[in-house]
Amino acid sequence: MRVLVTGGAGYVGSHAAKQLVKSGHDVVILDNLAEGHRQAAGNLPFVSADLLDRPRVVAAMQEHKIEAVMHFAAFAYVGVSVTDPAIYYRNNIVGSLSLLDAMREAAVNRIVFSSTCATYGIPNHVPITEDHPQHPISPYGFTKLAIEHALADYSHAYGLGYAALRYFNASGAAADGTIGEDHDPETHLIPLVLQVALGQRESVDIFGTDYPTPDGTCIRDYIHVDDLATAHVAALEKLKPGMALKLNLGTGHGASVQEVISLCREIAGHPIPIRTVARREGDPPALVADASAAKRELNWQAKRTLREIIQSAWKWHRSNPRGFGDSQNRVCDANC
Ligand code: UFG
Repeated sequence: MRVLVTGGAGYVGSHAAKQLVKSGHDVVILDNLAEGHRQAAGNLPFVSADLLDRPRVVAAMQEHKIEAVMHFAAFAYVGVSVTDPAIYYRNNIVGSLSLLDAMREAAVNRIVFSSTCATYGIPNHVPITEDHPQHPISPYGFTKLAIEHALADYSHAYGLGYAALRYFNASGAAADGTIGEDHDPETHLIPLVLQVALGQRESVDIFGTDYPTPDGTCIRDYIHVDDLATAHVAALEKLKPGMALKLNLGTGHGASVQEVISLCREIAGHPIPIRTVARREGDPPALVADASAAKRELNWQAKRTLREIIQSAWKWHRSNPRGFGDSQNRVCDANC
């Protein structure tokens, strides 16, 4: 298939684009480089455009004879979405609606959408199944849920085939060390811990040790970004016009903040000092996927363990201590 990957210069999008190519698909990246890195897209055809520029997006779809879309382009900082919801509503909701309308105009009727476990809010139970009520507690989670609703309505009315893939904690890096996680600012646990191991930070903060979990720290379901990528390709290959898939992507295993730090200590061979600080607002005690629906629907399950996740992330961060190191590109893109 000829697939347009929006946000294909970003973290999950670049890994999925690589996986698509490996599976024999033709890929075109569309990214505005607001958060992405040009280098992450490698040599793939690249369209520098914003989703809100609908004529440009339609033209790209027509020019490249696009048959399906993988949609990753979005802002994904839960905290910023609380303090500056306007940019989240505009980018994640208005941008996605603009993309859906561009797809209708260009007669593209399949989409794999990057959703999140943040659409569930504070879960009533773990592991979380797809029929768990969706009550997001952040504007970020709400923007993703809003697009899940739009997809369902577009599917019903216009015959769109869609997969809404609800990720748990995306982590790790490509096995070949060519691409990995590079956020600015970094807020995710594993890269922050590894930055301490690299001597870029003195210590890592643990946000709360009084949660109702065995060691008092939050539990998350860390899933390797390449396992996420494989699930995206499987979903795309299964989609037919009018089909609706809503699937959790996780491993089904939880790890606490303390467990993640201990494993990082072992793998990086560094003491990694910690500071215990107050809970971070909006952090549920435990988020773990029931991943059985993805197994049933896609014959997919995550293969990589937390150890492999941290090993791949360590390889990436050690070899690329400045990430993609392309801040100049971003400045240029904003000014050009
Ligand atoms: N944590 C710390 N210290 C840090 C950073 C994180 O203790 O410096 C803890 C958090 O409290 C949390 C765990 O480590 O318990 C993981 O935190 P991350 O920030 O790495 O990831 P989140 O679980 O907050 O976020 C992920 C995705 C979001 C998604 C969210 C849903 O990255 O996109 O899950 O809750 F919205």
